[in-house]
Amino acid sequence: MASVYRLIRPALRRLPPEAAHELTLRALELGAVRFLGEPAGREPDPPALAQRLWGLDFPNPVGLAAGYDKDARVPGAMLQLGFGFVEVGTVTPRPQPGNPKPRLFRLEEDRAIINRMGFNSGGLAAVVGRLSKRARCGIVGVNLGRNRDTADAVADYAEGVLRAARLADYLVVNVSSPNTPGLRELQSREILTTLLQRLMRAREEAGRQVPMLVKIAPDLTPEERRDIAEVALDTGIDGLIVSNTTLARPNLISRRAHEAGGLSGRPLCAPSTALLADMYRLSRGRLPLIGVGGIASAADAYAKIRAGASLVQLYTGLVFAGPDLIGQIKAGLVDLLRRDGFGSIEEAVGTAHDAMPAQLVMPF
Ligand SMILES: Cc1cc2nc3c(=O)[nH]c(=O)nc-3n(C[C@H](O)[C@H](O)[C@H](O)COP(=O)(O)O)c2cc1C
Repeated sequence: MASVYRLIRPALRRLPPEAAHELTLRALELGAVRFLGEPAGREPDPPALAQRLWGLDFPNPVGLAAGYDKDARVPGAMLQLGFGFVEVGTVTPRPQPGNPKPRLFRLEEDRAIINRMGFNSGGLAAVVGRLSKRARCGIVGVNLGRNRDTADAVADYAEGVLRAARLADYLVVNVSSPNTPGLRELQSREILTTLLQRLMRAREEAGRQVPMLVKIAPDLTPEERRDIAEVALDTGIDGLIVSNTTLARPNLISRRAHEAGGLSGRPLCAPSTALLADMYRLSRGRLPLIGVGGIASAADAYAKIRAGASLVQLYTGLVFAGPDLIGQIKAGLVDLLRRDGFGSIEEAVGTAHDAMPAQLVMPF
């Protein structure tokens, strides 16, 4: 059955990307979710897709990546579309407008997006207010960032942990967006150690052992990858999200290919999966990983799971294929698990990590 999304898609395509996105969010806020997506995407998930991680029961491993719902306006609607979990944010402590528009570009021919949003955010108070009003059903993570003009980046993240710990099912320390000057430097060994130790203390102060993950960039040298894996294991954080958008521009053909910002979508799929396998090896399979980058099919999601991801997320695939993709990925995953003789997602995690190249160097 064709979903309503297929009918409205041509009109959305004609709008500037950010206007189309805002229109979609408003429609979802007004309850449009019941007209979107295949009914199949909303049937109860098959038991083979269920997983318990960090004490949370994930009905399926397919999540919405950060950046789609930065201000926690529609997490319930996105869960209703069939996602197994939703990550809201990145949210900064104080509201900020982000970079001047235009700052979001569709690269149709490459099935990719370039964005330089720059953490446009309604701020923590707004996000916390919305989350405290929602019914606690479904898994919602909160992705934390820092204000562009902050004097103390570590204090910004600590404030995020303190204020969001009680309302989030998990927290993400985003040190990998390419559009806030200096942000990615937080991934270096010493700074990351200091940051994470401080955030562990903030979590204790908050009085809730909410799982805390770190989201990393795809553009990391072998040394940086090793350092991050060691820091992650030493500090005792709960997992890694691999990966954010890339600064690389690998063989793109679209007119907009040279816009500044982070690239997501199809060209990011192979390199972010290779990085995932690398992080799985470097952390010796001891850290749950969330694989994100260029997922547009069940095969892409399955490749990330076999490379080492316990869960996956997507954003750009949803923009190009619409919400039917969620149900398609879930159904495809069930078939792929059965084909390969796995009884559950958990059994498949990491089973092909050594089939990936050790380092896939991104062509800048
Ligand atoms: C428009 C846009 C905005 C994004 N904003 C954020 C963000 O605020 N925080 C974050 O951690 N990642 C952000 N991301 C990155 C995504 O969460 C994801 O890591 C990346 O896009 C790769 O996945 P994809 O290829 O499925 O889109 C954004 C991506 C896009 C396309």
